[in-house]
Amino acid sequence: MSESIGANTGTSILLEEVTKQYPGQVKPAVGGLTLEIPAGSLVMFVGPSGCGKTTTLKMINRLIEPTGGKIVINGQDVTKMDGDTLRRGIGYVIQAGGLFPHMTVATNIGLVPKMLGWDKAKIAERVDELLELVSLDPAIYRDRYPKELSGGQQQRVGVARALAADPPVLLMDEPFGAVDPITRQRLQDELLNIQSEVQKTIVCVTHDFDEAVKLGDWIAIFDEGAQLVQYDSPERILANPANEFVENFIGSGAGLKQLTLTRVNEVELVEAVTALPGDLASDVLSKLQGAGAPTAVVLDSRRRPLRRLTRRQLSRMQLVDDTVDASMPVVSDQSTLNDALDTMLVASADTAVVTGRREVFQGLINVQTIMEAISAANSAVGGDEAPVGLNSGAIPALSVENAMAAQTPSAEEPR
Ligand SMILES: Nc1ncnc2c1ncn2[C@@H]1O[C@H](COP(=O)(O)OP(=O)(O)O)[C@@H](O)[C@H]1O
Ligand SMILES: [Mg+2]
Repeated sequence: MSESIGANTGTSILLEEVTKQYPGQVKPAVGGLTLEIPAGSLVMFVGPSGCGKTTTLKMINRLIEPTGGKIVINGQDVTKMDGDTLRRGIGYVIQAGGLFPHMTVATNIGLVPKMLGWDKAKIAERVDELLELVSLDPAIYRDRYPKELSGGQQQRVGVARALAADPPVLLMDEPFGAVDPITRQRLQDELLNIQSEVQKTIVCVTHDFDEAVKLGDWIAIFDEGAQLVQYDSPERILANPANEFVENFIGSGAGLKQLTLTRVNEVELVEAVTALPGDLASDVLSKLQGAGAPTAVVLDSRRRPLRRLTRRQLSRMQLVDDTVDASMPVVSDQSTLNDALDTMLVASADTAVVTGRREVFQGLINVQTIMEAISAANSAVGGDEAPVGLNSGAIPALSVENAMAAQTPSAEEPR
């Protein structure tokens, strides 16, 4: 494929002063946007409705033609390249999957490979491989029609179809907007898993800031006319919102959103007094007193937590038994701090028991630890330097100097 836009991974995208002026509109929908999308990264576009996210996305695969500027993919100016050829190298996912209703799942997924002239056996093999990748059993789903699938399953097929010809670039426009919150969370997790396997360059539009924080390596926050207000890592945007617009967009509880970024295994756990069934309750009680701890964690022979015992409970028993408390708050060390806090809130407890592989007890996490993690995250946000992003030429009547002065501080230099 000599005309393709590059290797299947490691493809950068650069928008250079890209403008879209729709006929009959006073202001451009996208005004002089310069944006660097690093190879293999997942960039989220967020911003209010009508600010130009979809227009910007569709200019990358030229479903919408820019009226100004250049789009450079892997060093190649694609602005004048044949649109159909370009789009074969760019997967495109829209809300509700955008599947063709009269075609089976397999036919939908195999569309681009068929256009590329793959033979039938190779297409069939690829379809099954992709269904596996998006966690749909090929034997069950390949011959179904879209209407025989749930919304979440249709969306999975949409993702599979976009990945069919192994394109280096994936564009997604509010892909999970039409599914219920639980399905959305699963699809998000799955996208992250898939991305860790395939390392595409992904641009994904959302109006959900939490989704942007969860999925994005970088987040571009736009205001009307695709004016870039801030372009940085989720961590740094949460810690240092560029202005009030971004603060409002983040919404309440910016600190709490930090919790989605940190996993339980990244914070220091509290050690706990442990006990085994058969231990003398009085021995455990004196250990608790010695440690100044309120509860002991009872473990089974493989060190899996069974329940917690308070001093009062211990003082009333002779021997520790192997009763299981199903309502004990337990989180995996892979959980986010957000999940951990949720678990504590549901159990009305200020600590949760943490388990690792094979449910082996690791320690305790408490609200204090979580609060400290928030402030630590806020004060020490590091990471790679942000990619370049700014608008220029949006105000053609002004001289270059005035245009520079008119820009917001955040747009003045790369952040
Ligand atoms: N085909 C079109 N013709 C004229 N104006 C359009 C067209 N498509 C979008 N617009 C306008 O361009 C602006 C940006 O739209 P869009 O990119 O769809 O925003 P978003 O995806 O951020 O909601 C809006 O003001 C919208 O009304
Ligand atoms: Mg849109």
